Amino acid sequence: MADNCAVSHERYRQILTDDTNLRQDLLEDSIKSRAALDSLRLEANAKLDPKKKGELGQYMTASNIAEFMASLFDVPCEPAKLLDCGAGIGSLTVAATRKLRRVAGVDLWEIDPIMRGYLEANIKSLNIPYVLHGADFIVDAVVNIASHGGTRFTHAILNPPYKKIGSSSEHRLWLRKVGIETVNLYTAFLALTILLMEKDGQVVAIMPRSFCNGPYYKPFRELMLRECSIEHIHVFDSRSKAFKDDEVLQENIILKLIRGKAQSDVVVSWSHDHKLTDYIARTVPFSQVVKPNDEQLFIHIQTEEPSLDADRLFKCELTELDLEVCTGPVVDFRVKEFWLRDPTANSFPLLYPHHFVNGEFVYPREHKKPNALKRHAEVEKWLMPNGFYVIVKRFSAKEERRRVVAYIVDPETTKSDKIGFENHWNVFHFKKKGIDPLIAKGLACFLNSTRLDDHFRVFSGHTQVNATDLRNMEYPSSETLKTLGRSYYSTMTQQQIDQLIEKLI
Ligand SMILES: C[S@@+](CC[C@H](N)C(=O)[O-])C[C@H]1O[C@@H](n2cnc3c(N)ncnc32)[C@H](O)[C@@H]1O
Repeated sequence: MADNCAVSHERYRQILTDDTNLRQDLLEDSIKSRAALDSLRLEANAKLDPKKKGELGQYMTASNIAEFMASLFDVPCEPAKLLDCGAGIGSLTVAATRKLRRVAGVDLWEIDPIMRGYLEANIKSLNIPYVLHGADFIVDAVVNIASHGGTRFTHAILNPPYKKIGSSSEHRLWLRKVGIETVNLYTAFLALTILLMEKDGQVVAIMPRSFCNGPYYKPFRELMLRECSIEHIHVFDSRSKAFKDDEVLQENIILKLIRGKAQSDVVVSWSHDHKLTDYIARTVPFSQVVKPNDEQLFIHIQTEEPSLDADRLFKCELTELDLEVCTGPVVDFRVKEFWLRDPTANSFPLLYPHHFVNGEFVYPREHKKPNALKRHAEVEKWLMPNGFYVIVKRFSAKEERRRVVAYIVDPETTKSDKIGFENHWNVFHFKKKGIDPLIAKGLACFLNSTRLDDHFRVFSGHTQVNATDLRNMEYPSSETLKTLGRSYYSTMTQQQIDQLIEKLI
């Protein structure tokens, strides 16, 4: 990695200097205009209504990131037709225009009048033809795409707004008119942008990486991979740094796509934060990004060479191990009338994440949530028979060291004929029943290891762990799990767990 680092760092400096063919005086101009843009950005940011800011996803790009994004464009022979949707004060268009040199025109969408004031002034100073649309990009783009005759673009640069869109919201209804099914404004903007590109059109976007895994973003991944090749993925390691003016806690990536191009190798680059001072890059085969035969089309962002010696850990599908995983079936508010603060002779335990402290089962526990559910047919249909299970928290706190946190459920401690797993868990079971105790222990050991955590972070950039993520991963063989299970106990330290795993590989 050290070699890689030296070469790539140099390359990045080139991107900002030689590659754009800027002479020294122009470079100084660029640095001055960068500083001016950044101060305008902060000025505009201060004027925005904090409530509207969340609603419109108004987190603006710093000018050095904008320049890095623009540097990913290939300079076209013909003047570019540029698109910037959700343009803010125009930092991305300013950087793109500098890189592309000849721009036939730019179309910008910005819904917020405060932003538009700054935007218009910035774009005018570029002396290129432009159309500033003070309208909703989603509506306009859908009308354009549906009409088949609207403007198409050769280049698009975007930092789209981030906001969930409900299944019956106006935006979702509009998007369905052109066959887009997605759950967030940012993937909606990117999907529409893709459909507005000419063949070989280049798209560079900065956005959260939550679309890379999880079932809700699968239709978006399908559209993106059907329509485009992925050329470059840049990942920021530090969550809050890409948008350092705001409290944004999303892992962000920069993506370069080309519409209609056959997929080949992908450049994967990494930097610790927005400063890009420790930029490194490597080229990987596409099969490392989207695994062949992966129906879920997860996007893996592997910034380091995968270690061959870890093969032994990731070799079996869950089904080969006679294991399944589901979300905890008990949605507590649906069975509220059966809640019991304390267990009785006539109740079932209801397990929540707070019932595990430092790996140990602490039950019952004083809490606003119930400890048990009354025996009743309405309740029993959501329960599983007592037995050994491995359960994984679906949501971990941001400050937690590991994303995947697993516990063993031991029938000796739960002491009931049936157990309720609350919806905040993922539950490893087999045919809705418990699993082999040694396999359970080995599985918990594997899931709690640093090796697994590193592996998980390659395809997941957020703190949520979905059953689909766990279903889609590979696991050690049952023999290896049993070997781990013979030595594992639930109060082991991280170092002890990792030593057990390292002995195996
Ligand atoms: C994440 S900010 C990015 C701004 C700018 N591109 C940048 O990188 O600094 C997204 C921008 O999209 C605008 N926006 C949000 N929803 C929009 C919509 N439906 N149509 C057009 N613009 C929208 C917001 O006002 C905001 O300025």
